[in-house]
Amino acid sequence: MKMLKTLAAAALALCAAAAVQARPLAEIEKSGTIVLGSEGQYAPFNFFKGKELTGYEIEVAEAVVKKMGLKHEWKTVGFDALLTGLAQDRWDLVIASHGITEERAKAATFTDPHYCSGGIIVSLKPEIRTAADLAGKTVAVQTGTSYLEHVKEVPGVKDVKNFPTDEAARSALGSKRVDAWVTDRFVAKEMLQKAPKAGFKTGELLFVEKIAAAVKKDNQSLADAWNKAFQALVADGTIGKISQKYFQEDVTCK
Ligand code: ARG
Repeated sequence: MKMLKTLAAAALALCAAAAVQARPLAEIEKSGTIVLGSEGQYAPFNFFKGKELTGYEIEVAEAVVKKMGLKHEWKTVGFDALLTGLAQDRWDLVIASHGITEERAKAATFTDPHYCSGGIIVSLKPEIRTAADLAGKTVAVQTGTSYLEHVKEVPGVKDVKNFPTDEAARSALGSKRVDAWVTDRFVAKEMLQKAPKAGFKTGELLFVEKIAAAVKKDNQSLADAWNKAFQALVADGTIGKISQKYFQEDVTCK
């Protein structure tokens, strides 16, 4: 009886261990479908057009996984929950404009970057352009982003206001609840094109970053397969075409 109990306990422990294990490539291939996580509120990178999730990195991801011979399933949650969900194996890969940072790399393994960009200052006032101009000002950023981390380091900033989405941070600027908004330079570029009358002005680039997808820490087999397929699509012009469609320029890292 005691023996049986010990065996049962061991079996349970094994199951629990399996449940927290990231799915390596072989297992994903066996199932045929990769589970992808994104946000869906960050145009033009990942957003909903009606019910359809689309955008630059959504199309990149779909092309890459197709090249890998896989079907895919999307899960969308708040930006802040994406890396946590990855660590909990709720999805195999996250693609939501994460900048590669040392901090994030402690908990996740990044793939090759699918674009190079940076955080830019946006304001309604032409006199707010540089990091120095943010002294004494209130700045809006999305929670959990690299923008938050960098704005916190700017000396003299009066207040950094966090918003659950980048769009909410932008609205705060639009309704003058803040003096500036820090976002991605391509997000800002599109905003200015779409709403030229809103009066948004872009200032200085606060910092630059490489943006990549992420898999669970040390799920190297999956990262390698993704990178191989991604590089093949860069070489055959597929990624360049998707980039031209959204940005009229090549946003990949050179
Ligand atoms: N690039 C920034 C970062 O690394 C912002 C990403 C925001 N992504 C999103 N889907 N809202 O934190």
